[in-house]
Amino acid sequence: MYTTSRILFSWLLFAFTTIPLFSAQNNSFDPVLDTAGKEVLRGAEYYILPAIRGNGGGFILASGRNQTCPLNIVQDPNETNDGLPLLFSPVTNDSVVRVTTDLNIKFSIDQECNQSTVWRFEANGQEPGPYFVTLGGVEGNPGRETITNWFAIEKFEDAYKIQYCPNVCDTCRVICGDIGVVVDDGRRRLALIDQPFKVIFKKA
Ligand SMILES: *[C@@H]1O[C@H](CO)[C@@H](O)[C@H](O)[C@H]1NC(C)=O
Ligand SMILES: *[C@@H]1O[C@H](CO)[C@@H](O)[C@H](O)[C@H]1NC(C)=O
Ligand SMILES: *[C@@H]1O[C@H](CO)[C@@H](O)[C@H](O)[C@H]1NC(C)=O
Ligand SMILES: *[C@@H]1O[C@H](CO)[C@@H](O)[C@H](O)[C@H]1NC(C)=O
Ligand SMILES: *[C@@H]1O[C@H](CO)[C@@H](O)[C@H](O)[C@H]1NC(C)=O
Repeated sequence: MYTTSRILFSWLLFAFTTIPLFSAQNNSFDPVLDTAGKEVLRGAEYYILPAIRGNGGGFILASGRNQTCPLNIVQDPNETNDGLPLLFSPVTNDSVVRVTTDLNIKFSIDQECNQSTVWRFEANGQEPGPYFVTLGGVEGNPGRETITNWFAIEKFEDAYKIQYCPNVCDTCRVICGDIGVVVDDGRRRLALIDQPFKVIFKKA
């Protein structure tokens, strides 16, 4: 009985997750443009910077107060610092990074901690949050197991914003929303928040 329902459940999962998976993810979405007006490309390095000046610099990796590893994603408060370069990998395998399309984001530099530099949404399922964006994700392999590793870039006013609302698993219930900056223990960290962080992409 248990086995039968389990198999049925697995089959249903399979049916739901394989057929419509990428129907909303194709090459018809607009390309994301960098600060030079060029298409943002898969596998090339970019800095993610605040679109509005006076809003700090790029993103770096910083250790927590009491621990050296793992490192957290933190915005450099110094506006003149571009931070560390990042790479984008759209789920579509398209060579151009497009809006609305699920993608992995990772730092191209692995610092002192031997850890994944792939962005991961920290959906701990507890309390009302904040839900931070941290590291430790895996690249590719879209589906239920990697649901927390997919983000998307959306147009926002005259620039862009980053969202967490993955489409890689139709049967998963996910918390959707904009990614903004939250001050946590004196550090500017990325988290799901009503106020999106308006960003631009500068080629490294
Ligand atoms: C691409 O996606 C858009 C929006 O979901 C849809 O309107 C369009 O028909 C799709 N195009 C193809 C070729 O699948
Ligand atoms: C961090 O270290 C301080 C002093 O060593 C200690 O008082 C505090 O409880 C620690 N915090 C955590 C989260 O471990
Ligand atoms: C910001 O960084 C620049 C270049 O690294 C440095 O010259 C400047 O002093 C820094 N400003 C602050 C407030 O730390
Ligand atoms: C993207 O590439 C991976 C690895 O080659 C492949 O497994 C996957 O099916 C591709 N995805 C799409 C949407 O083409
Ligand atoms: C780094 O992590 C990988 C995978 O977790 C492991 O295989 C490797 O041995 C580690 N390297 C070092 C220097 O710790």
